[in-house]
Amino acid sequence: MKVLVVGNGGREHALAWKLLQSSKVEQVLCVPGNGGTATLERCINLPLTIDDFEGIRKAIQKHQIDLVAIGPELPLAMGMTDYLQQHDITVFGPTQTGAQIEASKSWAKKLMQDASVPTAKSATFTDNEVDAALSYVAQQGAPIVIKADGLAAGKGVTVATTIEEAVSAIQASFNGQFGLAGECVVVEEFLTGQEASVLALTDGKTIVPLLPAQDHKAVGEGDTGPNTGGMGVYAPAPVVTPEMLTQVQEQVLQPTLSALQERGIDYRGVLYAGLMISPNGEIKVLEFNCRFGDPETQAILPLLDTPLEDLLLACAEGRLADVEVRWKSGASACVVMAAGGYPGDYKKGDTITGLDKAEAAGAVVFHAGTRLKDGQVVTDGGRVLGVTATGHDFDDAFARAYTAVDSIEFEGRYFRRDIGHRVRSKS
Ligand code: AMP
Ligand code: GLY
Repeated sequence: MKVLVVGNGGREHALAWKLLQSSKVEQVLCVPGNGGTATLERCINLPLTIDDFEGIRKAIQKHQIDLVAIGPELPLAMGMTDYLQQHDITVFGPTQTGAQIEASKSWAKKLMQDASVPTAKSATFTDNEVDAALSYVAQQGAPIVIKADGLAAGKGVTVATTIEEAVSAIQASFNGQFGLAGECVVVEEFLTGQEASVLALTDGKTIVPLLPAQDHKAVGEGDTGPNTGGMGVYAPAPVVTPEMLTQVQEQVLQPTLSALQERGIDYRGVLYAGLMISPNGEIKVLEFNCRFGDPETQAILPLLDTPLEDLLLACAEGRLADVEVRWKSGASACVVMAAGGYPGDYKKGDTITGLDKAEAAGAVVFHAGTRLKDGQVVTDGGRVLGVTATGHDFDDAFARAYTAVDSIEFEGRYFRRDIGHRVRSKS
């Protein structure tokens, strides 16, 4: 079997790595891939851009690809699945209409309301309803959350602690800060608690949750500072108890899938629920994503026992009910190493050393922002590496991951020492 993976992050490196563990997977092609996928055996990078649907289709046909797995939200929201399916290509990833669950927060909110999925109270305003938006904020008070409706590369959410901050976030969005994505805003009740990610696989009929994960969004230790794409993650996250996972299945995943079906959407791929779990265990959906989480996928896949290609293909072909999702025991930890300055400005092109030593320490190093330059791996993004290790418990997994992190060097490297602070022993 040959699989083509679309994307160039740590998530895609993890997908390619997991697929290649199976003897049934002859080759993985990545579009465009990164320095990590370039160095995987039986994996090649194709120098195409992810919006070049025609170029990708031609490559799929030329290389006789059996399955395409689309990593990022952008090509999904642009309709890559629809386009490839029209050419009889087997695709893992929802269609453009399905991807609205991530690409339009107001659409997702409406779907959640229709399906009675627990979520924060909210109101939606377009840019010709400025006064209504501002008076709603004044009436609700702060803290309050302002979200640009569309895709804004993870930057569209402002958790405003004062009314003034909320007002300027609304004005900035309506004044074009996020382009078309900000012409509409969702104003949402501020929720407190612990966040968790439940990614589920679906073939449009059956939906199966993967191990719950907990990301660390803030850049600084102690969960301080601005939000990032994610600074580290672990799975299975004990904050989502088995009872809660059943509740998520019954109150979130199943009803959402039914609501998608009612809209005539045949959703095949990942449905990712970003959850807030209140101190008394109440679950609410913060957002849905239409794809694998990053870095969540880097921590989840090492514990997956069922061959990944069997699951992706079963989703794409509508027979997920026939495949069992099995897990290995133990814990998985992923620590993100970033370029100094991230999530603000950062440098690129610095040589990375110590990757072999990190792997010898028992970790798998997933590359996010890297590329090969003259045979050497150099930095090429804000989040550079996801250093991942499994162990019999979280202390064991994090000890391995951090030993590996300590052996990797590049100029200005930055990482949090406290990833997993909720699950590691304090000693
Ligand atoms: P989203 O893209 O909607 O997941 O929002 C990004 C981040 O903003 C989340 O991971 C939370 O940390 C925060 N956030 C979003 N919505 C809320 C909310 N209603 N209450 C508190 N924090 C939120
Ligand atoms: N880790 C957050 C995301 O993938 O959206």
